[in-house]
Amino acid sequence: MNFAGSHILSIDQFQREDILKIFATADIMAPYALRKSQTRVLEGAILGNMFFESSTRTRISFGAAFNLLGGEVRETSGFSSSAIVKGESLQDTARVLSGYSDIICMRHPTEGSVADFASASRVPVINGGDGHNEHPTQALLDLYTIQSELRAQGRSLDTLRIAMIGDLKFGRTVHSLVRLLCLFTPARIVLVSPAELSMPAELVEALRSAGHDVFETDNLNQGISEVDIVYSTRIQEERFPSAEEADLYRGNFRLNQAVYTANCEPNTVIMHPLPRDSRAEANELDSDLDDNPNLAIFRQTDNGVLVRMALFALIFDVAHLVERYASDLPWRSTRRGL
Ligand code: CP
Repeated sequence: MNFAGSHILSIDQFQREDILKIFATADIMAPYALRKSQTRVLEGAILGNMFFESSTRTRISFGAAFNLLGGEVRETSGFSSSAIVKGESLQDTARVLSGYSDIICMRHPTEGSVADFASASRVPVINGGDGHNEHPTQALLDLYTIQSELRAQGRSLDTLRIAMIGDLKFGRTVHSLVRLLCLFTPARIVLVSPAELSMPAELVEALRSAGHDVFETDNLNQGISEVDIVYSTRIQEERFPSAEEADLYRGNFRLNQAVYTANCEPNTVIMHPLPRDSRAEANELDSDLDDNPNLAIFRQTDNGVLVRMALFALIFDVAHLVERYASDLPWRSTRRGL
């Protein structure tokens, strides 16, 4: 695809070579994300960060990624601080905000809303999550992390075995990850969920059509054995008709060190798009895993900055100029390693 000036709305718009280009561009962002150097390649550009649904990682990492490329960020969070509460349409909002920004990242609780917004925007729009539909940049950072974790173990995506666990019905991160895996070498994919929260049938069919071996089960212990990656997800309570219905499934698939030791292979990597629900009634990824070196959840969040920097650089067609606009930093980062 031609990235320059493009919206990023769905994984379906990519070919495999596009993903490899994003990952190669993400690799060159490491010195800037690690504060070893700085680049001003997007100096003068403005990102409009429009998050109409709660977010910590996606909103802040989009902003940090844009800042790290030298650009500035303007934000709005929630509907209450937007004129949408006065009845303004998404399209009018897009017409206005795209006059103030050079690119917009947006999250919205309704499926398809980011695409609607993009259709009226005068600048590129990146989907930061639209209802239970898609979260394409999360899938990109997830696959980038999977590749990096496997490489560290001397393995590759070509022999991938992955289990996705939890709310596969409403979880937009796994919907986008499944679409992304359809572009890659056939893998063994285990889908672990209660039957009521299973992966949408069309996505399971897409995996099978792409040649993947897909197994569906509601048995956590069975599902997490013989895989390289365990990808846990949160019960998406905000998408359920009521909290009581979400409570029926909360805490059904708890992964802790004892469960991991009893069922996983020694090097199985643990991932989660986060936030993990750490409340006692859920505790889907126990804090006793925090010292497990295979817990990759914070390497995953760090990788989000690299991948989002890469997307900005490609959309603005400046990836080849990043180093030319680089300079030494007058300060040294005091950030400790994970
Ligand atoms: N993974 C993710 O989308 O996290 P946030 O909701 O914090 O952005």
